Amino acid sequence: MLCPSRSDELVFFVNGRKVIERNADPEMTLLPFLRKNLRLTGTKYACGRGGCGACTVMVSKRDPVSQEIRHFSTTACLLPICSLYGAAVTTVEGIGSISTRLHPVQERIAKSHGTQCGFCTPGMVMSMYTLLRNHPEPSEEQLMEALQGNLCRCTGYRPILASGRTFCVESNDCQQKGTGKCCLEQEENDSSSLGRSGICTELFAKEEFLPLDPTQELIFPPELLRMAENPEKRTLTFHGERVTWISPGTLKDLLELKAKHPEAPLVLGNTSLGPAMKSQGYFHPVLLSPARISELSMVSKTSDGVTIGAGCSLAQVKDVLAERVSKLPEEKSQTYRALLKHLKSLAGQQIRNMASLGGHIVSRHHYSDLNPILAVGNTTLNLLSEEGRRQIPLNEHFLAGLASADLKPEEILESVYIPHSQKWEFVSAFRQARCQQNALPDVNAGMRVFFKEGTDTIEDLSIAYGGVGAATISAHKSCQQLIGRRWNELMLDEACRLVLDEVSLPGSAPGGKVEFKRTLVVSFLFKFYLQVLQELKKLVQLFSVPDSHRYPEIAEQFLSALEDFPATIPQGVQTYQSVDSHQPLQDPVGRPIMHLSGLKHATGEAVFCDDIPVVDNELSMAMVTSTRAHAKIISIDFSEALEMPGVVDVITAKDIPGTNGAEDDKLLAVDEVLCVGQIICAVVAEQDVQAKRAIEKVKITYEDLEPVIFTIEDAIKHNSFLCPEKKLEQGNVEEAFENIDQIVEGEVHVGGQEHFYMETQRALVIPKTEDKELDIYVSTQDPAHVQKTVSSTLSIPINRITCHVKRVGGGFGGKVGRPAVFGAIAAVGAIKTGHPIRLVLDREDDMLITGGRHPLFGKYKVGFMNNGRIKALDIECYINGGCTLDDSELVTEFLILKLENAYKIRNLRFRGRACMTNLPSNTAFRGFGFPQGTLVTESCITAVAAKCGLPPEKVREKNMYKTIDKTIYKQAFSPETLLRCWNECLDKSSFHSRRMQVEEFNEKNHWKKKGIAIIPMKFSVGFAATSYHQAAALVHIYTDGSVLVTHGGNELGQGIHTKMLQVASRELKIPMSYMHICETSTATVPNTIATAASIGSDVNGRAVQNACQILLKRLEPIIKKNPEATWEDWIEAAFEKRISLSATGYFRGYKAFMDWEKGEGDPFPYYVYGAACSEVEIDCLTGAHKKIRTDIVMDACCSLNPAIDIGQIEGAFIQGMGLYTTEELQYSPEGVLYSRGPDEYKIPTITDVPEEFNVSLLPPSQNPLTIYSSKGLGESGMFLGSSVFFAIADAVAATRRERDVVEDFTVRSPATPDQVRMACADRFTKMFRAPGKELQFPALKKFTVQQKNNYCKL
Ligand SMILES: Cc1cc2nc3c(=O)[nH]c(=O)nc-3n(C[C@H](O)[C@H](O)[C@H](O)COP(=O)(O)OP(=O)(O)OC[C@H]3O[C@@H](n4cnc5c(N)ncnc54)[C@H](O)[C@@H]3O)c2cc1C
Ligand code: FES
Ligand code: FES
Repeated sequence: MLCPSRSDELVFFVNGRKVIERNADPEMTLLPFLRKNLRLTGTKYACGRGGCGACTVMVSKRDPVSQEIRHFSTTACLLPICSLYGAAVTTVEGIGSISTRLHPVQERIAKSHGTQCGFCTPGMVMSMYTLLRNHPEPSEEQLMEALQGNLCRCTGYRPILASGRTFCVESNDCQQKGTGKCCLEQEENDSSSLGRSGICTELFAKEEFLPLDPTQELIFPPELLRMAENPEKRTLTFHGERVTWISPGTLKDLLELKAKHPEAPLVLGNTSLGPAMKSQGYFHPVLLSPARISELSMVSKTSDGVTIGAGCSLAQVKDVLAERVSKLPEEKSQTYRALLKHLKSLAGQQIRNMASLGGHIVSRHHYSDLNPILAVGNTTLNLLSEEGRRQIPLNEHFLAGLASADLKPEEILESVYIPHSQKWEFVSAFRQARCQQNALPDVNAGMRVFFKEGTDTIEDLSIAYGGVGAATISAHKSCQQLIGRRWNELMLDEACRLVLDEVSLPGSAPGGKVEFKRTLVVSFLFKFYLQVLQELKKLVQLFSVPDSHRYPEIAEQFLSALEDFPATIPQGVQTYQSVDSHQPLQDPVGRPIMHLSGLKHATGEAVFCDDIPVVDNELSMAMVTSTRAHAKIISIDFSEALEMPGVVDVITAKDIPGTNGAEDDKLLAVDEVLCVGQIICAVVAEQDVQAKRAIEKVKITYEDLEPVIFTIEDAIKHNSFLCPEKKLEQGNVEEAFENIDQIVEGEVHVGGQEHFYMETQRALVIPKTEDKELDIYVSTQDPAHVQKTVSSTLSIPINRITCHVKRVGGGFGGKVGRPAVFGAIAAVGAIKTGHPIRLVLDREDDMLITGGRHPLFGKYKVGFMNNGRIKALDIECYINGGCTLDDSELVTEFLILKLENAYKIRNLRFRGRACMTNLPSNTAFRGFGFPQGTLVTESCITAVAAKCGLPPEKVREKNMYKTIDKTIYKQAFSPETLLRCWNECLDKSSFHSRRMQVEEFNEKNHWKKKGIAIIPMKFSVGFAATSYHQAAALVHIYTDGSVLVTHGGNELGQGIHTKMLQVASRELKIPMSYMHICETSTATVPNTIATAASIGSDVNGRAVQNACQILLKRLEPIIKKNPEATWEDWIEAAFEKRISLSATGYFRGYKAFMDWEKGEGDPFPYYVYGAACSEVEIDCLTGAHKKIRTDIVMDACCSLNPAIDIGQIEGAFIQGMGLYTTEELQYSPEGVLYSRGPDEYKIPTITDVPEEFNVSLLPPSQNPLTIYSSKGLGESGMFLGSSVFFAIADAVAATRRERDVVEDFTVRSPATPDQVRMACADRFTKMFRAPGKELQFPALKKFTVQQKNNYCKL
């Protein structure tokens, strides 16, 4: 530690205002500084690791070399404030507000319906804003690039892109794929739509948008400009409590400091150091910042190559290389092209703007995308120290960290020299990641070959791989052995053999998936072989090389191996029925009204739980969780934690005055823990960082207990279940199996899913001084449950506790049960300390502690006739419930009830059980078992189709309900709408002709295959319990005529408040502008049910309607007496006449009933029907896929708000697509969840949206049970994401057919690239798999200790 002297002043600007920080803490990043110190809460915390973009801000700096002002987006959560000296920061608050002037980006994202919960919106706005500062008329490609680093869990991205496209030059919205043909023109020609009146395809009116006027933007502060013109040469030092930040003003000083503090790292982008210090416990007492040293940002070009300063950001490197590529002949720019390819997909734009070339190279991450290419490209590192300059090659020794080939501790990397390539030299880059963009690669590679002039004889060869070991690995020996060989198949075979030997990939390879990675190692090699062969052939033709006829021909079908999937901007049409032309203009029902909070989301003014200003004497809380999966707690010692600075108290089960949760589901563990992540106690401290540091000091000793069960298979073995089996049966299954042509049996595995709501769990508990009253602000879907739990925990009556929910930053079921636990523990802390308590879970803790969607293992036996008619189906499902019951019994019931989906099968047996395991308890998640269970049913259909040699859609059609009928639980229903959705989807997607095109494509292409699938859906909404079908509302009319509406639903992003005001507006016959919804509170509407199961708007809408009708009835005599008067006059008159202007509305809903003994009932009020068709293309060599097109047809009956409903369908579809394709939970052998952030757990990004994405709502029909015949569409779209899964399976099946692989196969969900690649069996997968050995992919990946260690290095 340096001797503490006075800190320098840190000077920077935020939103045009000067900030002078006299005690800048080097450990503080910009995000908490903005939120806490400056009270600018528009910028959100969602992951803290640079992976989600919720905290995006724009930073402007004067470039010391070009002297120009550079505006770039960054993630505030990784940006140390000390790095901001002389910079200007612009946050979402700085560009516009509702009270002053909206920025066009803010206006357009809101009005295009690009916000739902709104938690990601400020980040999206700032990414787009920064783009427009640099390019006022961006291209669509630039727009996609700008948004790559921003995640949204609600919208499915389409409307966000739609808003951005209104700024683009070529934004002629629907020029489909260069055909020049507009979707709307196609619509007109579409026979199914002909003759229909009022079909609308516009969800917003872009003519009304404010124009973008770049002259109105904030200017770069003149004071900073002056500072930049006369740069401070003095070394600046900022001392924090634990860390000192030193920022020298000259290169000489930097080198001196590096000699003095050889252990001190250089902080450039902090994108490597920052996450390591946050999550992996790295600590550096001194940090050196070379940000002000212009020498590190120099770029120089020579006739042989380019030298790029180590301090240049990756975004700048990309620009330099792009310029070089545009200027140089192709033969000289091979390495630059390869680097550019990876620079496009490496992280998101914000990280590329921050991360430096030097930081990237020196970090030597095993997954580094650039190091393998730089290594094969003969790059030289220019090093500097006080001793002088020297050069070292960026080679395998440097990458392996050999001391003799590395920087010395006192050295810095000054610049990087990348030579030009030359004629007869070829360089390529390869990369495979879970998602195309913004995902760390599984494996990557750089490859270079140099031929003897005019021949195909290898003169030099370099190959380097990333992701396959602890560092980038070079296949140096193999390459040496291949020198002198000719470029042909024989060489390829030998190369594969040698490389597989050299790049041995032990079982400990980071992230596991060893077989897949080994396959990629050779698949990339094969791609390189073909690429070079093709280039060689061009060259030899050009130079009429003798002997060229001996170069192997590439068969036409093989050329498909060469193309990568380009990132394209999605197109599509959203179709719905416009309102009747006679509907009064004032009546908003059925119109695409913008989300009530849309503009507030976009300006950052929408207040989420943690945006509530700090209250007097507030303390922070952090949770101490179990590190063991099943153990006895021997002791808890928190004495050391109590001595940490700022720590006030530690809360344990002993402090709970009332009930500690349920006997088998305790709030705070006592004596025993049942999973890793179970909460044991909580630390309360003055600051959240203090609480987080102190939890590390709580010492818990355990004694491990047996058994420890993680997987469903183990639970079955140990007979470990949470509740009895649920069963439904109809017909005689056994008998039916006797009379059929064929039987297929199979197994289906569906992985779990993390909710990944952007706003993590949070609560603020404020104890009041009187009568034990308590105010709780909490992010929940069920405030009444929080209130009740806190009441029993504290042993005080419910009436003393008020729960407030303004809005929730995404819930998806994950905020139904768990918030009560956090609210109750925080309440115990508040009562014990007498202070308000704020609890904000880190993303890692949120993912560790809370469970998610239940993984499922299903076994099926299906009997059918050769024509595809299914006669008998027996399905047995097991779900992984985790360690406590939670919702697992209900999920099992729903699963069984919904398993038949759209099919009428006479003889059925469905059984389901919830397994008890030592994992965090799984809970409610959008669709509640349906998305997992129905995947089993649809997999059966696919298996039957395969056996009958029929297309799956024929088997689906054959077995679908056709006439009015009864479900397996004997509830009558008519499938008419289901069939309409199906037929319309077939029609709109031109399914049959596209099926033929897919087949034609597959015949012509060996290494790329297309697949297409159409899936029907019958989804029942609601809870299967009568008490849940009720709702209340409270409507007040004030004397000025304004109306305050309160109801029992919570705003989770699904637009319930908007819909409720639409209802109130229609009922009271006054515009929505008269109305307001303040919050959901247990004090205004008591005893509410959770906002879940898709019925929030149905039941609350009826309650609001009821309240409004009561009020209107009271007003009737007054209105009759003076019909010409205004609303305000009537209200004034009513008040004078002592008429109550406040009414409670109540809705006594559906009488749900299910008799499990008899297996019959009426559990659900109604069904939502739909169908989705998706087409994909897979890369058989890498397992990657691209989504070519999706068409969804959904029955929304009479949509209350088509923009909101389409938004729900699209958002749920993309979330479902994530479940089935990318989202994979990974655990250690000890049951520790590894995938605890956006790096390891991949939710879909903007580049995952299908290239063409069409959604249409069926024309209205009647649904007497709901408000204005609308339907609840919150969950159903989720399952339609499976159409992508089945399209992938279809493509894999085509691949296997072509390769004559006869064994049955089932792709597991999620169909990640490793699943797909290994299922596309070929010569490369066979290179190291024993013939006939079936692949095993356990639902929970087992890691060895070595693997775990490697994985943790990620
Ligand atoms: C969300 C996210 C996604 C990412 N995705 C990818 C991806 O897809 N592919 C990929 O390859 N990478 C990815 N990365 C990693 C990223 O490329 C590196 O973190 C980054 O390049 C490091 O640069 P930095 O300037 O931030 O380094 P810092 O964190 O500032 O420093 C890292 C290390 O480099 C040293 N150092 C820096 N400069 C010098 C110098 N001039 N001389 C000597 N030592 C120096 C420091 O001492 C320190 O030890 C991702 C990172 C994040 C946060
Ligand atoms: S919170 Fe900063 S990127 Fe996620
Ligand atoms: S609106 Fe994007 S995360 Fe909710």
